[in-house]
Amino acid sequence: MDTTRRGFLKLVAGVAAGLALSGRRVVLAAGKVSLPLDKASELTAVGGVKAVRLGGRDLVLVRDSATIVKALDARCTHQGCIVMYTKATKLLDCPCHGSQFRLDGRPAKGPAPSPLTTYPATLSGNAVVIDLP
Ligand code: FES
Repeated sequence: MDTTRRGFLKLVAGVAAGLALSGRRVVLAAGKVSLPLDKASELTAVGGVKAVRLGGRDLVLVRDSATIVKALDARCTHQGCIVMYTKATKLLDCPCHGSQFRLDGRPAKGPAPSPLTTYPATLSGNAVVIDLP
C-alpha cells in the first residue's frame, strides 16, 4: 500500500470514528480519537472500565493504573461475543464460552484461539487518546 492510499484510508477511518461519536463530543485528529475524561468518568479511577464504539469497532477501555489506559477490541476472537472486564481478576471475560484475556490481549483461557486486538492509548491532559489505524 502506498503512503497516499494509507493516508486516505486513515482519514476515512478517522472521519467514521468522529461521526460515530460526534454526539459525545469526541475530538478527532488524524486517526486519533480523543475521549475527554469528563465524558468517560468511569476511567478516572484505577480499575474503571468504559465500553465505546469507535470507527465501527467495539472497544473496551480499562484504566490500568494512574498513568495507563488499555484499549482493546471487545469482540472475542472465538465467535465474536463482547468481552467484559473483571476488576478483581484483571481479566476480560467472554460470557459465551468462557474465554478469558489478559489486558495485553493474550488469551488466558480458551477456547479463544488468538489475542484481542489492542490499540495504543495514552492519557493526555484530561483525555484518553486512542490511535485507531
Ligand atoms: S465467543 Fe468468546 S469464548 Fe466463544
